[in-house]
Amino acid sequence: MTSVTSLFAPVEDDLAQLVENLKQLIGARHPVLFAAAEHLFKSGGKRVRPAIVLLLARAVADAGVEISPRHRRLAEITEMIHNASLFHDDVVDEAEMRRGVTTVNYEFGNRIAIQAGDFLFAQASWYLANLDNLEVVKLLSEVIKDLAEGEIQQGFSSFDVALTLENYLEKSYYKTASLIANSSKAVGVLSEAPADLTQDFYEFGRAVGLAFQIVDDILDFTSTVDALGKPACADLKSGNLTAPVLFAMEEKPYLQVLIERELTEPGDLEEAIALINHSQGIARSRALAEEYAASAVQRLAKLPASDAKQALIELTDYILKRLY
Ligand code: IPE
Ligand code: IPE
Ligand code: MG
Ligand code: MG
Repeated sequence: MTSVTSLFAPVEDDLAQLVENLKQLIGARHPVLFAAAEHLFKSGGKRVRPAIVLLLARAVADAGVEISPRHRRLAEITEMIHNASLFHDDVVDEAEMRRGVTTVNYEFGNRIAIQAGDFLFAQASWYLANLDNLEVVKLLSEVIKDLAEGEIQQGFSSFDVALTLENYLEKSYYKTASLIANSSKAVGVLSEAPADLTQDFYEFGRAVGLAFQIVDDILDFTSTVDALGKPACADLKSGNLTAPVLFAMEEKPYLQVLIERELTEPGDLEEAIALINHSQGIARSRALAEEYAASAVQRLAKLPASDAKQALIELTDYILKRLY
């Protein structure tokens, strides 16, 4: 499998600089907030979102033209928003581990984690406003609204067996795809690309984001805590009904019974997992992720051939094969 590092080769230097800049940009006045933000940043992450922004920026530029400082700043803002959403997500999920280390809420408590998330959202907004492009401000502030909407939708639908695949995809758009879609579109806006190409970037990001979340939800069932750097089977346990469960419920009515009683009897969780594993749930989810990945690739058709374009195509494949 292509490693994520070799995949990002065309923007490797840009990403290294991004990591340095992010540390500078947090610049929290309060040492506790700084420590909390640094705790999450230091643990790394795959940097998929800024890599997409930088690769699109390279792919749309004329050969030999450097990525502009505004594109770089957009990539940084994108990673800041993502990290801010993780602070809040881990509080909501009561998660104790992420990226192979303890979460900020575990180390510093929920209050600090929420404040650190708010702080990072605010910092991101400030840098966003300083890009001095109203359209980009609108695109990315919509994302921050969508992230909250997604968490709320997920919270209100826990253990709800009436949840449809459509509901799940809408929630996944809000929680995950909106950020990738709108930051991809913002690249088109900053590059003054034609409107149809800018819209293709949006659709590319949307499809990549949905594929990414579906794969994340599959991995929650098929991977291990060591590989993931976060606990496995956490979604089902907390009532978050994802694609594999929704497909499996169509085949296994008893799964609905278990979920309706919120997996409260001893052995319920194990039985539910066994039912999912004996269904087409995982395979159908994978097929759905593959469809989104293929439709993402189609949206790159108008771009001229380049290393960056090739990396974006391979990225859709990496997302399907990723192990964490
Ligand atoms: C985690 O995103 C949240 C999801 C949208 C599934 P990533 O898997 O990109 O997290 P990091 O940044 O690499 O840790
Ligand atoms: C994506 O969803 C998280 C955000 C976009 C905030 P998940 O809840 O699946 O992310 P993980 O599994 O905790 O990384
Ligand atoms: Mg989570
Ligand atoms: Mg997950």
